[in-house]
Amino acid sequence: MILIKETENFLALGPPREKCVLVPTMGALHAGHASLIRKARSIAGPQGEVVVSIFVNPTQFDRKEDLEHYPKTLTEDLELCESNGADYVFAPTTSEIYSHDHSISIAEKSLTKNLCGATRPGHFDGVCLVCMKLFQISRASDAVFGKKDYQQLAIIRRLVRDLNLHIRIHGAETVREDSGLALSSRNQNLSPAHRLYAPAIFQGLNMARQEHAYGLTDTTLLCALVRQHLSNLPFEVKIDYLDVVDAVSLEKLDSTEGKQAIMATAVFFGSVRLIDNLSLNFQG
Ligand code: PAF
Repeated sequence: MILIKETENFLALGPPREKCVLVPTMGALHAGHASLIRKARSIAGPQGEVVVSIFVNPTQFDRKEDLEHYPKTLTEDLELCESNGADYVFAPTTSEIYSHDHSISIAEKSLTKNLCGATRPGHFDGVCLVCMKLFQISRASDAVFGKKDYQQLAIIRRLVRDLNLHIRIHGAETVREDSGLALSSRNQNLSPAHRLYAPAIFQGLNMARQEHAYGLTDTTLLCALVRQHLSNLPFEVKIDYLDVVDAVSLEKLDSTEGKQAIMATAVFFGSVRLIDNLSLNFQG
């Protein structure tokens, strides 16, 4: 595996590759990322290439403290990339990616209205900008994104469609602990008590999915089930949002009838904000 830090050296690798699969990350890699890299490896096949980018993108942070405190674990990350089949790791500095006077931006105006977009203004525009740059630099034929960030995946698909980008986007299943808790680098910031009860998010979503399978399509009632489950915890959690949305437009739904629906939530356990989602009636 080769570590590349300068964009120029990356570009010097040659013309667009037939099968080059990019896994964009911000580092602090865990088993969830490992599964994205393994999926990229299987898409690339033995002859293709797998590139993992590690870049903590400043334009997607709405809070300066989060950017400053973002964990940096490059040595461990490189090991994880190597052992899961990456051929290259692209780990540029901020000035490699953003000129000091960069002045072009990307604005997504529809899919960002709800869910995380509602409480994190500008976040997804920053994600779109950096992904566009990473797609251009790597000249990847394919890219893999996790379904845990369902809204991000939907927005990246829209970016590719609306700007006619030559890249195929693949969604990878959320990796969960046995308890159901979705893997996230934020889990390590939970207090022991919060860590113990954080699987309640998945349990709540799963209960709603089961009731939906039995015929409950009213989204207010479905959300009430999850709220009820979370209100039974021995401490209070703050629900940032909990919605059932259309799987493609991400518009909020009153009923799931005739729709492909996603139930998505962000919940604060103390100061740690955890997100998760489940598809209610289709293979998301
Ligand atoms: O999901 C992430 O880690 C980031 O949003 C991404 C896609 C690497 C862009 O910075």
